[in-house]
Amino acid sequence: MSIQIKQVEQHDVIILTLLARITFTEAFGYLFTPEELKDYLDKTFTVAKLRESVAKSNNRFFLAIVDELPVAYAKLKLHSPYESLPYHSPAQLQKIYVLKEFIGNGIGEKLQETVFREAEKNNKSILWLAVWEENHKARKFYTRYGYHKESTYGYGIGEKYFTYDIMVKHFQ
Ligand SMILES: CC(C)(COP(=O)(O)OP(=O)(O)OC[C@H]1O[C@@H](n2cnc3c(N)ncnc32)[C@H](O)[C@@H]1OP(=O)(O)O)[C@@H](O)C(=O)NCCC(=O)NCCS
Repeated sequence: MSIQIKQVEQHDVIILTLLARITFTEAFGYLFTPEELKDYLDKTFTVAKLRESVAKSNNRFFLAIVDELPVAYAKLKLHSPYESLPYHSPAQLQKIYVLKEFIGNGIGEKLQETVFREAEKNNKSILWLAVWEENHKARKFYTRYGYHKESTYGYGIGEKYFTYDIMVKHFQ
């Protein structure tokens, strides 16, 4: 399987938005009522919102392409301080999602490596992320790449409340 990674440009935003909506639904849709899910997707992943987000110099979005198909994406936020972390200007891996059909093929690995390179290119020494404590596959994936848990936080979507692990990767 040949996996290409490309940085998202404005003309990719429609496909990025669709990918974001589908991958979230595939991964976590079962946790919500249809109304809660639709409300979350409509608030979080609209073409207009993602157009704005892609245009910000603080953000980097990457698409993974397999046989010409966009199958995964990641979002890196370069300056993303978080109050319970004692670091100056850490970067955040805000999203990394692979279409269900393509999980387990090393696509997440390629995206993760691209995010590391981009963070290092921007002189970042800390990268953090929030992962739902029950998302064991993702937590294992992050641990493999050198992240470790430093904190927790809680967040509500609709009627549901989730606890997240805050995991941090230190670059040398
Ligand atoms: C977490 C996630 C991004 C990882 O991406 P991925 O493409 O599945 O990751 P990789 O393929 O690089 O590695 C994952 C697994 O595939 C295995 N793998 C890696 N390369 C492989 C290959 N060429 N062939 C088969 N398996 C492979 C890895 O060993 C790993 O196995 P294990 O975790 O079962 O031990 C992906 O699972 C995902 O999108 N999950 C749903 C959304 C989600 O939870 N996102 C994170 C929110 S915080």
